[in-house]
Amino acid sequence: MIRTQEEYQQLYRKSIDLPEKFWGDVASEFHWFRKWDRVLNWENPPFAKWFEGGKTNLSYNCLDRHLAARGNKPAIIWEGEPNEDRRVLTYAELHREVCKFANVLLNQGVKAGDTIAIYMPLVPELAIAMLACARIGAIHSIIFGGFSAPALVDRINDASSKFVITADGSWRRGNLIELKKIVDDALKNTPTVKNCIVLRRAANAIDMVSGRDLWWHDVMTGASEYCSAAELDSEHPLFILYTSGSTGKPKGILHTTAGYMVGTHLTTKYVFDLREQDVYWCTADIGWVTGHSYVVYGPLSNGATTLMYEGAPNYPDVDRFWSIVERYKVNVFYTAPTAIRAFMKWGNEAPKKHDLSSLRLLGSVGEPINPEAWIWYHEIIGGGRCPIVDTWWQTETGGIMITPLPGITPTKPGSATFPFFGVDAAVVDDKGEELPLGQGGFLVIRKPWPSMLRTLWGDDARFREVYWARFADKGYYMAGDGAVRDEDGYFWILGRIDDVLNVSGHRLSTMEVESALVAHEAVVEAAVVGFNHEVKGEGVAAFVTLGPGFEKGTKMADALKKHVRDMIGAIAAPDQIHFSEALPKTRSGKIMRRLLRDVANGVESKGDMTTLEDLNVLAKLRQQEEE
Ligand code: PRX
Repeated sequence: MIRTQEEYQQLYRKSIDLPEKFWGDVASEFHWFRKWDRVLNWENPPFAKWFEGGKTNLSYNCLDRHLAARGNKPAIIWEGEPNEDRRVLTYAELHREVCKFANVLLNQGVKAGDTIAIYMPLVPELAIAMLACARIGAIHSIIFGGFSAPALVDRINDASSKFVITADGSWRRGNLIELKKIVDDALKNTPTVKNCIVLRRAANAIDMVSGRDLWWHDVMTGASEYCSAAELDSEHPLFILYTSGSTGKPKGILHTTAGYMVGTHLTTKYVFDLREQDVYWCTADIGWVTGHSYVVYGPLSNGATTLMYEGAPNYPDVDRFWSIVERYKVNVFYTAPTAIRAFMKWGNEAPKKHDLSSLRLLGSVGEPINPEAWIWYHEIIGGGRCPIVDTWWQTETGGIMITPLPGITPTKPGSATFPFFGVDAAVVDDKGEELPLGQGGFLVIRKPWPSMLRTLWGDDARFREVYWARFADKGYYMAGDGAVRDEDGYFWILGRIDDVLNVSGHRLSTMEVESALVAHEAVVEAAVVGFNHEVKGEGVAAFVTLGPGFEKGTKMADALKKHVRDMIGAIAAPDQIHFSEALPKTRSGKIMRRLLRDVANGVESKGDMTTLEDLNVLAKLRQQEEE
């Protein structure tokens, strides 16, 4: 147990100076079929091997390990969006369902190393499917339920998934989302997929393709309740999760078994300060990394009770979240700044209607939290008594990297404070030299950590290029964020340094949206930039040039928004569409995004414009805004 900032510093130093001792001690808490020979092999950077030679199983460590002491303890408390849908699964029940579904997968011919695409609503069966994959060594690739059919096709094909697990439909703000229909569209273009298992969730009418599609409830009937956990190598792939990069092609982040297990376990334990009777609620969708690490694996490996809510925060009313906190007496609550800003807009009445006194700790993740939102969260939700942990991390890092420890680290609104154990974070200049306090630069991690990504699926070259090439001589991991440390050494994240937007806490590549736009018959050129958005953090602004014969206007703007939604998903739909006859470019033909950002934000452009090819273009764009 750590109690003071001095104890933290001591343990932090130990974790950096003697990482193998530190992480070896943490790993000893788990069940190993065979103990590791070596904690870290970093002989072939950037390809790390953690707990080399060991054999373990994450599903076993999340379930079987707890059965004796916690068999009757709730593992998952679930609430569906339709208000009467409620379920609790104890550790024993979850274990049984996972074993049964693992047997279903084995019966269907799934083998260790096969990749399985999962496209489901936030229901317990999603966690069951994940844990069943982990149990037999199949690699899950979860695709957020908000993505469209073409986005699904790209991800299924990139991972060569043989199986898809989905549901007939899901609920969002009372509306039915026809998931299976989207899957049917996608599966016309995915040659590797053999079978599709379909959960009945919304009971909407769907087509079942004979020989390919199977009902979840049919295949589960009669499946054996016992399934031994495969003895997997520490470095056996656990999951692929796609995230946006600065090109149009999403990156398949690969995480492996033991390092991810150890990293998410320890961060959950210390950052959320979990106690045995706690009800813990991370509001993320499991389709994002936060859901993988802090709805499912981290809490379950700690034997905690994790709460899952299927739907929207404002359905049927804006107090839905607070009614859930009151109903289940939630102690630890972890959400994103974009949600907090939406709550602020909806007013103080909604939280005030409910008894939130069970809350002990609040967390924030996904984007910088503005001090105003931080203070509102602290006062109105936390009643002024709950510490806030502002956690910085990424899909790539697998787990929390920079964060306060509750009750130990004095916090400052807007700062993620200090690195977690074993995380050697620094702010450096373009040569990799550490910058003095107060100077902004690149955020890097100077040493490997257990839950780090191992590669990009099928693309080692891109893995090296994106994360390691910039500071190759030093062997630093480049996070892609800018940061600065203040006079007290606190880390402040300044945002992305590449063409990646952070929309509602989710990463979005400007290039992906541009590719979607130019695929529309009316568009000849498109440039996408971010702008400051009151709730989303960043909004999407698209500048498009139409081909001859196409008319600009609201109708075209709406058609283009719908087109992007159909190609990628609702999160990518532009908030602003600007029509322009030409885009501002440098003499070498590069679009000057800085200037477009100024237009999108409605501010005057400052700075050097001498390289602008045609100053008229900008003047015209602005003039158009005023029309
Ligand atoms: O820019 C940082 C921002 O989100 C990016 C990672 O996005 P993703 O992989 O989708 O994971 C989000 C959830 C872990 C980072 O590069 N980010 C995440 N957390 C914070 C943050 N920016 C500032 N403060 C944070 N606490």
